[in-house]
Amino acid sequence: MSERGDADRTKRGLIIAIDGPAGVGKSTVARLLARQLGYLYLDTGALYRAIAWKVRDMGVSSDDPLAIAAVLPKTTLQMACGPEQSHVLLDGRDITGELRTPGVTALASMVSAIPAVREWLLPVQRKIGAEGCVVAEGRDIGTKVFPQADVKFFLEADAEVRATRRHLELVAAGHSVQFDQTKRDLTGRDDRDRSRAVAPLIPAPDAEHIDTSSLPVDAVVAHMMAVVAARL
Ligand code: DC
Repeated sequence: MSERGDADRTKRGLIIAIDGPAGVGKSTVARLLARQLGYLYLDTGALYRAIAWKVRDMGVSSDDPLAIAAVLPKTTLQMACGPEQSHVLLDGRDITGELRTPGVTALASMVSAIPAVREWLLPVQRKIGAEGCVVAEGRDIGTKVFPQADVKFFLEADAEVRATRRHLELVAAGHSVQFDQTKRDLTGRDDRDRSRAVAPLIPAPDAEHIDTSSLPVDAVVAHMMAVVAARL
């Protein structure tokens, strides 16, 4: 299902892991890095969002982990990865455009704390990254999904800065939300992602930390490219 740009593909395909909290700029820099390298962009959050989408579509309670786990064996989930966008096919239907609503966002955070969901999504992610040449972003890429990744980044930024970025994104996408609510949602998700028992959001010991609070996107990507170039 995946396409790879041949243009700048290097001889040895690296796995590049980018982890960090919501609103830190992972997707933006991961896409730019993938484009510059001619690599696949793997948005693992979209997979958790897809499970949340299905759970909601089926009317399964978000408080019932067993019922949520029971949805998984009846699910097919594929990702068509390109350098810019990951298209998500859930049970054969492209739901990419329906994954970034505030409702799916909140539910994805709850669903991602369920061990059975994380276990089920591991091989899905590893299959996409199996051939290398991939920039994968998420919360546990460097620690759990690809602990053998060639390059690992952990992005950080002040909560205020991240909430502002997320709020601007939501407003640009036509959602009418208050900044305070956006900030509460974002910090609530952070707390859940960092404190869950399975694969919490923590930096891999060998990850390179980058604080993006006051760095422009171009500077972050240039720094990452320099780190990657040294490993090619
Ligand atoms: O990156 P995102 O906002 O699209 O992720 C949605 C949710 O999925 C987020 O609350 C945490 C979870 N997630 C995760 O637990 N592990 C990942 N590798 C990616 C996302």
